[in-house]
Parts: sequence; structure tokens; C-alpha cells
Amino acid sequence: MEVIICDTQEAVADRVANYIKYLINKKENATLGLATGSTPIKLYKKLIELYNNNEVTFKKTTTFNLDEYYNIDGDNIQSYRYFMNKYLFNKIDIDKSKAHFPICLEGENPNLIGDLYEKKIINAGGIDLQILGLGSNGHIGFNEPSSSFMSKTRIKTLTQKTIDDNSRLFNKNEYQPNMAMTMGISTILNAKYIILIATGENKSDAVNRLISGAISSKNPASILQNHKNVIVILDEDASSKVNNIDYYLNAAKENKKLQEQFGYFHELK
Ligand code: F6R
Repeated sequence: MEVIICDTQEAVADRVANYIKYLINKKENATLGLATGSTPIKLYKKLIELYNNNEVTFKKTTTFNLDEYYNIDGDNIQSYRYFMNKYLFNKIDIDKSKAHFPICLEGENPNLIGDLYEKKIINAGGIDLQILGLGSNGHIGFNEPSSSFMSKTRIKTLTQKTIDDNSRLFNKNEYQPNMAMTMGISTILNAKYIILIATGENKSDAVNRLISGAISSKNPASILQNHKNVIVILDEDASSKVNNIDYYLNAAKENKKLQEQFGYFHELK
């Protein structure tokens, strides 16, 4: 696990956007796994800037979002498809028929929708780079504590902590779903590369547990310790409780030199 600490949230967004640009310029038909939530908004803004400067095109990119609320149509303003359209897809040249979400409406069988999503990911050649945020309870996607490390895309009931954390995004009388379809932990671990982003002091405990806590389904993000190509990119606030921070700062400097010399994403052809 590589840990990169940036001064500000803008610097985090800049760094991750440049990784994505590098990847797409190396493999134009790349498959990206994407996240919603507050954390990646600055990243998506930066990607739009890169696109407007003709530094990257998404014409041949396929995307799979991590999750979608259960029984929320893609046109609903609370849906993650709406979010992605608003913050990224409407402003770049992506072919939206290649942007996938695990949408499951009432009456549809979530098991079948989950299986289909897995098949679509496999048919696209697997995910080259998965972008993740981090829940304050250690969730990745909507894999809440106690989720199986072997899990695939499926329906999950959200914990009260997640519902409370996300209630800021809903108006007072607006319906807030308590279930979501989410890629499983095993789906996420199958990505060739993973970049997890965390910013803000409220993520500092979860970040510390992700990097150096015990690997346990009680803390789903901890399993990322076992993935061979994970980069955790933090701002200073989110990194404030990381043990052994000097080591990570030094390692990041050394890795940067090597990556500038030999390139990134060496496993991608
Ligand atoms: C979103 C997702 C979640 C969020 C996490 C952090 O698609 O899968 O795991 O990444 O809840 O959310 P924010 O960024 O809003 O703090």
C-alpha cells in the first residue's frame, strides 16, 4: 500500500486526476470504477479541466460506478447516476452508454441485477482503476462493517451511521433510502489498481484503521492492505492520525522518482 499525503484537498484532486489522465493516455479504452459522495467532487472538476485543455479524452472509456441507492431511478436527483451526470459526465465526451450503474428498482430481483453487473464488468475486461472514497465507519462502496470479503455486487442495508453521515445530502422531508446496490468487496479487490481518496479530519480515524488496523470485516477498508496495487491519497487533515507518517512521506518521495523514470500502471497493456 502506497500512502501519499498532499497539503490540500485541491492537491489531492490534482494528483488523482493526473493518475487518471496518465492511465487513459496509456490505455484509451480503459475501464474506470468510480465513486460518488463529497470526496471526489474536486477530482471530477479537475478531470473536466483536463478535458477542456485537450489533455485527455474519455471517448473510449468505460465506467462502472460502485453503487446506487435501491429503488431510485437514474433521473431522480438523489440517484448516483444523476450525481455523475451533474459533476462529470455531462461535461466531458464520455459515451454514456458505456457508463454503468447497478440500478435496481422495486420489483426487480437484486440478485439478478448484481450478477448482471458482475458479468458486465468481466465483459469489459475488468476494472483497470477503481476510485474509492472511505466511510467514517470504514466502508468502501456500501460494504458496511461485517460485509464478506468474498462479496460480489448485491443489495445491502445501510447502517444507521451511514444513513446519518449522508443525511446532509437530503432535504428535511425528502425520502432517504436505507438500502443500496453495491459492488462487493471481492469485486473491488479484482480491480487491477485502486486509488482510495480521503480528505478531512472526520476521516482520520478511519484512515488510520485502514492503513494499520487489523484486517477484519468489522473494518471493510482494511482488506485493501492485501491488494498489491493500492494508493491511498490523503490531505493533511485526513492523515493526522496515521502512525509512522515520516516513513510514508519519505517512501512517497522515493516512489515518485521511480515512477517519473519508469511510468505508472505497469500492469496495464
Ligand atoms: C460512494 C461510496 C461511499 C463513499 C463514502 C464516503 O459511491 O461508495 O463509499 O465513498 O461514503 O463518502 P463522502 O465522500 O461523501 O465522505
